Amino acid sequence: MSLNVNLLRETFERAKIENGGVTALGMRFYARLFEKYPSVRPLFITPPEEQHKKLLASVSAIVAAVEKPDVLIPYLHAMAIRHLKYKTENTHYPAVTENLVTVLAEHLSKEGKWTDEMRNTWEAALATVNKIMIEAADNPVKFAEELAANGFEPNGFRKNDPRPWVLSPELPK
Ligand code: HEM
Repeated sequence: MSLNVNLLRETFERAKIENGGVTALGMRFYARLFEKYPSVRPLFITPPEEQHKKLLASVSAIVAAVEKPDVLIPYLHAMAIRHLKYKTENTHYPAVTENLVTVLAEHLSKEGKWTDEMRNTWEAALATVNKIMIEAADNPVKFAEELAANGFEPNGFRKNDPRPWVLSPELPK
């Protein structure tokens, strides 16, 4: 079954305008994450007020590039390798997915519909994201060449770029 890209995009567009938009969604994401998975709380240094903007910018980049694997895959590999520095473990990925899908469901149910198809679409998309990120987290050295070809250092950061989660330095930030 292929991913329903239109539904993914439509729901994300709705998330930006409904129920307080991405700020409300992002703040709720971290509030629930820390409540339900308190063991990950100490990993986060950046306050949720700032961190949620990065997360949502990154989700937005992923949704934008979902049909461009040549761009998306190196982006996700680099992000996973950066997350090693943040002490993220592979077992955290399903927790973050569960949390994101649950808060998205709450968010979109307030002013409109949230369907099983929407849930399945987001779960499928995030399962793929997790698989791609974990393959790099498991073996960062294997991806050094791919990262270099896409402007990333072996540690997943970009030289002189404080915003590595932005999809491409050429795109508007
Ligand atoms: C869909 C998967 C994920 C996305 C899109 C995502 C996105 C981001 C972004 C954009 C940043 C900003 C820094 C950077 O880009 O290097 C970040 C930082 C971080 N993420 Fe994630 N992340 C994901 C999964 C996870 C998971 C599974 C964990 C585990 C708890 C996690 C924990 C962290 C931590 C601890 C930071 C550093 C926060 C700080 O600066 O204090 N992330 N993430």
